[in-house]
Amino acid sequence: MGLVSLKIGDGTARFKRVTLSSLAMNVLMLFSVLTTNLFALYSFTSSPKNQTLLHHAHKNISLISQQVSLILREIDSSQNKPTQTEKGLLGYETIDLSRPNIANELKLFLQHHKLPLGKDSRTGITEMVASVGHSCEKSMDLLSQYMNYRVSGPCPDDWSLAQKLILRGCEPLPRRRCFAKSIPKVGLYSFPISLWKNVSDKTVNWSGLGCKNLQCLNSKKLSKDCVGCFDLVNGFENPKYVNSRTKNDFVIDDVLALGSGGIRIGFDLGGGSGTFAARMAERNVTVITATLNIDAPFSEFIAARGLFPLYLSLDHRFPFYDNVFDLVHVASALDVGGRSEKLEFLMFDIDRILRPGGLFWLDNFYCTSDEKKGALTRLIERFGFKKLKWVVGDKVNGSGKSEVYLSVVLQKPVRV
Ligand SMILES: *[C@@H]1O[C@H](CO)[C@@H](O)[C@H](O)[C@H]1NC(C)=O
Ligand SMILES: *[C@@H]1O[C@H](CO)[C@@H](O)[C@H](O)[C@H]1NC(C)=O
Ligand SMILES: *[C@@H]1O[C@H](CO)[C@@H](O)[C@H](O)[C@H]1NC(C)=O
Ligand SMILES: *[C@@H]1O[C@H](CO)[C@@H](O)[C@H](O)[C@H]1NC(C)=O
Ligand SMILES: *[C@@H]1O[C@H](CO)[C@@H](O)[C@H](O)[C@H]1NC(C)=O
Repeated sequence: MGLVSLKIGDGTARFKRVTLSSLAMNVLMLFSVLTTNLFALYSFTSSPKNQTLLHHAHKNISLISQQVSLILREIDSSQNKPTQTEKGLLGYETIDLSRPNIANELKLFLQHHKLPLGKDSRTGITEMVASVGHSCEKSMDLLSQYMNYRVSGPCPDDWSLAQKLILRGCEPLPRRRCFAKSIPKVGLYSFPISLWKNVSDKTVNWSGLGCKNLQCLNSKKLSKDCVGCFDLVNGFENPKYVNSRTKNDFVIDDVLALGSGGIRIGFDLGGGSGTFAARMAERNVTVITATLNIDAPFSEFIAARGLFPLYLSLDHRFPFYDNVFDLVHVASALDVGGRSEKLEFLMFDIDRILRPGGLFWLDNFYCTSDEKKGALTRLIERFGFKKLKWVVGDKVNGSGKSEVYLSVVLQKPVRV
């Protein structure tokens, strides 16, 4: 049985690693031991001279039952609420709007607004509530700075501040009431010509970025999936997904064939400059590309190609309903770093939005170590997907070192 420590008296109880049922069992046993003893006592002490003692016993029974119900209540609530230290650690507490230097707009945003006509009969709600990421609490200074803007005026030019907040888990962001700087989008092409036309440097406001044009970005390795990825003509981008350079590079048409014609909509996580979505668009498959603007204007670029950029970190639950996508594609974005739970959260969400029969394409995932490969493989196997393709391959990198990559195509099963 688990470790239990009861401190009856001030009504507090602390329990460690004990399930609710075993706790309840302990309490019931305690109760029955006490009552049995008290009844035994009662039968021995029913002579008149022991009336006082009996009176005490009665009082003690009711005291005990009071304590027991107190403990049960405590167990019940301790199952539902985190302890004070957990709260502090995770920033569970709601944002304290009374503290100094909180931007007024943030207070207004977070206040509950009563519905003018009372309770809504369809939804049952009585007030409108705004949501902001609970981790915002940990970055209150930045958040207040972010929320310090003139309502109905131009938004401050601080997208990198917004992105910093998002990367700290402060998502969704609460800024709603100013006009974002508008950049004239000159020289856009019509679809599908737009998919492979160079994007003009002028469609991007470069403030806050190290590079000030696409040529500069193309000379950099921005990530494993984006080496010169803004160059749609020369370089690596154009042949991607149509010509395979290694056995880890699957060709789009082969993967689509595995879906037996049922692949119409897809989701690409961390999709660089949108080339996966572009190649899919040519095959009449609509793909949404999730991307942040880390060191480059990915969102603007993808949109300029006539594709759909979704500005969202992968720490966020995907804003899609269950079982809606025919395909989910992910490359190094699955490398969430750090804790294995984080990867699990992401994998479960990918599984959730994928329909039964839909395909999960893990594309050239870089396995930094055997452990990492093993952990990922075990995780994937827990989902019971059908393995349609599974390739572990070596690539020699720039410094002559061999690196291991995993590429797989899996099919989500029907679960009952
Ligand atoms: C009842 O509790 C009181 C103190 O709360 C104690 O002094 C007394 O001995 C107890 N009586 C019995 C019968 O347990
Ligand atoms: C980019 O933003 C800054 C700051 O808001 C602004 O001064 C500048 O004019 C903008 N550039 C373009 C090309 O709109
Ligand atoms: C597109 O951009 C690439 C790389 O910056 C450049 O080499 C190429 O000439 C450009 N093509 C056109 C048509 O402007
Ligand atoms: C995409 O759809 C268009 C219009 O329906 C059609 O003409 C074209 O053949 C389709 N392309 C492919 C690759 O299926
Ligand atoms: C090549 O791989 C090694 C070992 O994984 C790594 O230390 C090195 O930075 C890599 N070089 C390049 C150019 O990616």
